[in-house]
Amino acid sequence: MSKLHDILESNSSWAEKVNNENPTFFSELAKQQIPKYLWIGCSDSRIPETTITNMAPGDIFVHRNIANQVIHTDLNCLSVIKYAVEALKVEKIIVCGHYGCGGVKASMEEQDHGFIDNWLNNIKDVQISHKNKLESTNNEEDKFKLLCELNIHEQVKNLSRTTIIKNAWDSKQAITIHGLIYNLEDGKLKELDI
Ligand code: CO
Repeated sequence: MSKLHDILESNSSWAEKVNNENPTFFSELAKQQIPKYLWIGCSDSRIPETTITNMAPGDIFVHRNIANQVIHTDLNCLSVIKYAVEALKVEKIIVCGHYGCGGVKASMEEQDHGFIDNWLNNIKDVQISHKNKLESTNNEEDKFKLLCELNIHEQVKNLSRTTIIKNAWDSKQAITIHGLIYNLEDGKLKELDI
């Protein structure tokens, strides 16, 4: 069984190592954060944004939820976007999904998942809007992959239609939105053409 002690011990040796390599790292970062990126990703434990992009604490402002959704009534997500755009002035927003996403997979199933179906319905909506495209795929595996990609497309679209992004673009703030997909099999990110 995992112990909280393991996390604390691991943290302590990490902090010591970072401090040895760069004695001013924590004191500088404690003063302020100036991340250039906002990352909207999936909660999946296998996709920690800072690790997979080989970046450091302070580089990426983050919002993660099941299947990287940008929902127009989600105050949590919208608040993160608002703060990132208006206060932190991030330059790029990355919506990152991944192949093999459990949330996307569950949305394709007929079975009842209980409460979480309220969340998964957003991905079911993506399926409905791209019904023809999805039905023209040869097999379930390809359909699953395609839906993982389409889901990212839709969330990028949702994001660009928020009042926050509209206002930023209207006031000529230099901010771009990108859709990326992560492959669990090889650890690589790929940019989607959106
Ligand atoms: Co996922």
